[in-house]
Amino acid sequence: MPDNFTLAHQLAHRTYRAFRPEPLPEATINTLFEVARWTATSSAMQASSILNITDPNLKAQIAQICNQSYVAKAPLLLIFIVDQYRNNAITNDIGHPIETAGLPSRFFQAFTDACITAQNVVNAAESMGLGTCYLGSILNDIPQLVQALKLPQLTFPVVGLMVGLPDQDPGQRPRMDKSLRIFDNTYTVFDDYAQAIADYDVICEAYYRQRDPKIETPTFSGQLVKRLSAANPRRELILDFLRAQGFSLPERADD
Ligand SMILES: Cc1cc2nc3c(=O)[nH]c(=O)nc-3n(C[C@H](O)[C@H](O)[C@H](O)COP(=O)(O)O)c2cc1C
Repeated sequence: MPDNFTLAHQLAHRTYRAFRPEPLPEATINTLFEVARWTATSSAMQASSILNITDPNLKAQIAQICNQSYVAKAPLLLIFIVDQYRNNAITNDIGHPIETAGLPSRFFQAFTDACITAQNVVNAAESMGLGTCYLGSILNDIPQLVQALKLPQLTFPVVGLMVGLPDQDPGQRPRMDKSLRIFDNTYTVFDDYAQAIADYDVICEAYYRQRDPKIETPTFSGQLVKRLSAANPRRELILDFLRAQGFSLPERADD
């Protein structure tokens, strides 16, 4: 374990999905929001926002969209969004309307901001001994989420995050060797990926079998095949939903 407190938590990262029911202290939540506010932001535009979901009915609706019942019990539930609405409204209201807020580059600028803000909050929460779980599953039903959160044009949900005091002790999920993911200067292409991933498959198999002896696909490569074959058709409509929110993304080739 490194001496540095934050590093120790980062290197011990794991996702928690069960939390003690008590709400987080106001001061803790405010600290997390301050960390979010001070996160680096492309061109200092601050084109992302966070929705703090405190209404239990809304939490339940989001849990249903996610199809993950534990979401309803999250002590702190945050939704990170792309937010070009605010800056567009500012330029309008000072009498300088600009038509570029919906351009693809603006969307991705804000998207990156939302992602790194979320991870900064995760690092802060973990450094305080809290557990977190990202929720990509909020994107299962974007129109319903947009309506539930009253998201205006030029905004878009990116990822959800649960934060709370852990009420479980999950093991740390193994990761593939850095030789497969971190390259010097130029991209490394391996001759044989089945061979390159073989050691990691053995590590994963041991880990997943110990968690669930009946697991059918314990290897990483097996999980890959399973997950990559099971596309959610609604998730593939994301470009249509982006356009509906006012982002002028190019039409699909088959349109
Ligand atoms: C962008 C993103 C979306 C995720 N979405 C979900 C989710 O919807 N539900 C969930 O239970 N976990 C979700 N996770 C957590 C991952 O499943 C988890 O990070 C991964 O299995 C690795 O485990 P670890 O974080 O414990 O190391 C998400 C993680 C990321 C980074």
